[in-house]
Amino acid sequence: MQLDEAIKGRRSAKKFSSKKPDWRDVIECIDAARYAPRAGGHFTLKFIFVSDREKINKIAEAAQQEFISQAHYVVVAFSTPKITINSFGKRGEIYVRQQAGAAIQNFLLKAEEKKLSACWVGHLVDEQIKREFRIPDAALIEAVIPVGYEFEKTKPSKKTSIDGILYFDRFGKKRMRG
Ligand SMILES: Cc1cc2nc3c(=O)[nH]c(=O)nc-3n(C[C@H](O)[C@H](O)[C@H](O)COP(=O)(O)O)c2cc1C
Repeated sequence: MQLDEAIKGRRSAKKFSSKKPDWRDVIECIDAARYAPRAGGHFTLKFIFVSDREKINKIAEAAQQEFISQAHYVVVAFSTPKITINSFGKRGEIYVRQQAGAAIQNFLLKAEEKKLSACWVGHLVDEQIKREFRIPDAALIEAVIPVGYEFEKTKPSKKTSIDGILYFDRFGKKRMRG
């Protein structure tokens, strides 16, 4: 699959079929996340691969999003920020969140390449997830990502037009020249 096809074809799945993905494909998505840029060379994102049905239901509860429980696998992604904050101080806190986003997007693009469907879920009660998976208090929950095959292809979401986000040379300047 071409990169452009993966970028434009990726969408958030909200309904999964009963077909079970090969768990190794999901591990490949996690592996792809490792290649994202990271401040000071410190990769601060960690993953818990969840296949236990009861635990998946607990994640759906913590997120109050029922569709998550349809997935055979859910990946919990969390940051351990200490090393980056030690290197960069306050700014390091921002870097940790930014690099988590870059890595999660790598994950999602790899999933698209493998014809899997996934959804970045960020609306959840962090404490419930930490308790369930024994994640240290100082960690930052970045996302839970249900992975599976989509029940039916969701329509692509409406994209922002390039005209609405692009400026030239300074904020507000909408033309390349003149
Ligand atoms: C930080 C973040 C948090 C998100 N949290 C949720 C969520 O809790 N539940 C959900 O269904 N989708 C969530 N999404 C997915 C968005 O709803 C989705 O990306 C958006 O509607 C655009 O659709 P698309 O991904 O198909 O292009 C989240 C996405 C991001 C980037």
